[in-house]
Amino acid sequence: MATRTRRDVWKLAEWDDTLLWYSRAVREMWDRPIADSTSWRYQAAIHEYVREGDPLATASDKLPKTAEQKRYWNQCQHNSWYFLPWHRWYLLYFEAIVAATVVELGGPADWSLPYWNYSDDSNPDARRLPPAFRAQTLPDGTPNALRVNIVRARGNNGAIVAGPEYSDLTCLTEPSYEADPVGGSPGFGGPKTVFNHSGGAVGFLEAVPHGSMHGAVGGWMGRFGTAGLDPLFWLHHCNIDRLWEVWLKRDPQHVNPTDADWLGMRFDFRDAKGKAVKRKVGDSVDTAAIGYEYEDVLDPLAPGGGLESLSSVEMTMADRPIPEMVGATEGPVALTGKPTTAHVEVSAPSGPALESLEADEAPPRVYVNVENVTGEGDPRAYKVFVNGEYAGLLPMFGVAEATAQTDKHPGGGLHYRLDVTDAVQRLQSEGNWNPADMQVTFVPAEEEAAEGALESLEAAEPEPSFQVGRVSVYFA
Ligand code: C2O
Repeated sequence: MATRTRRDVWKLAEWDDTLLWYSRAVREMWDRPIADSTSWRYQAAIHEYVREGDPLATASDKLPKTAEQKRYWNQCQHNSWYFLPWHRWYLLYFEAIVAATVVELGGPADWSLPYWNYSDDSNPDARRLPPAFRAQTLPDGTPNALRVNIVRARGNNGAIVAGPEYSDLTCLTEPSYEADPVGGSPGFGGPKTVFNHSGGAVGFLEAVPHGSMHGAVGGWMGRFGTAGLDPLFWLHHCNIDRLWEVWLKRDPQHVNPTDADWLGMRFDFRDAKGKAVKRKVGDSVDTAAIGYEYEDVLDPLAPGGGLESLSSVEMTMADRPIPEMVGATEGPVALTGKPTTAHVEVSAPSGPALESLEADEAPPRVYVNVENVTGEGDPRAYKVFVNGEYAGLLPMFGVAEATAQTDKHPGGGLHYRLDVTDAVQRLQSEGNWNPADMQVTFVPAEEEAAEGALESLEAAEPEPSFQVGRVSVYFA
């Protein structure tokens, strides 16, 4: 098998062969019926399919049989340690289908999916939609299938779609792949779960930049059921998949789970010929062995960049302290279109966090848990401040899905764990840290996300109504 090289879309010419043939293949796949597993709509439905929310539904649609839908649709893994490997297999078969379509149309044999590196500090355009995704037509004047017209509310005019917080790479400093069972680290790759389509604790990478960039692009990208219809979705996920490689390579202590429940989990796909395949998580970890590599997996957090890996303090999984809850709000907190502050009274820890405080060892980690986030609407993210100090972003991608009650959705919402240690340390050094009154402020991030990019957002968007079950604080 020849190795495909996945390249940075911003380093390609606007109509490089990769993008030209991608556009042609998308059009071709778009024309295939939804029951054909190589069609554009079937591919998006693998992620999630909601008939009522399908913008392309027509009365003449013939959906695949129920058994087919059950096995292959609504499969995406979120809020789970399967998030990364499931999306890796998903991309691999999608790429193979596009590549086969490119060949059928007379294009090159080595087509590979490019990635969108929105976190590239050396590129002032990194957080604009790449030009080929905005152009109305191809160079020959035919319509460009990479542009999503009506629905992608922002960015088609070339505006910057998000501030740097949305593409922040602090997740790469998280030493553990797996989340702590409760309260502490969200893990680089998410919590240990069984098959989990939505709902639960959000892994570090899955929150930012993954969820945040979904929201920043908006439109079809904003929902599980339509995300895969946007051709840019695939470049976004290609970058998320690349960041998994970057994380592994940047520190020898960064390792994948070795648990048999992770390695042995299998997922169903259909390959480029429509043949049924079952792929194991354990077989996804070596990209060269499954036929591709990335143009660039160098560490973007160069030494001296101020973001040192936590594992530089020699913390292995086994020594990690058990997180202890030191305070929580008494009741729920409503998030609206206006800044909202929750007050949390922190009491002294009784467990290992106190010992480390007293022994003056490495400073304890501080996590704000935002539990059971439910609801729907804009904004697509909130900025979180701790006693006025910026502490991180809370993306709303996946909240609506995790709110709905269906067989695949538990309905308990999303659970975010923000590592606010740096913010607390800044407060401490300024003499402004008062644990007796910890104020966690949620500020709707929408209006600052992209100046000038919101002009086409409909004024009729529903009032935001998000609910947080509880805000709790953990020391670890
Ligand atoms: Cu399964 Cu970015 O979504």
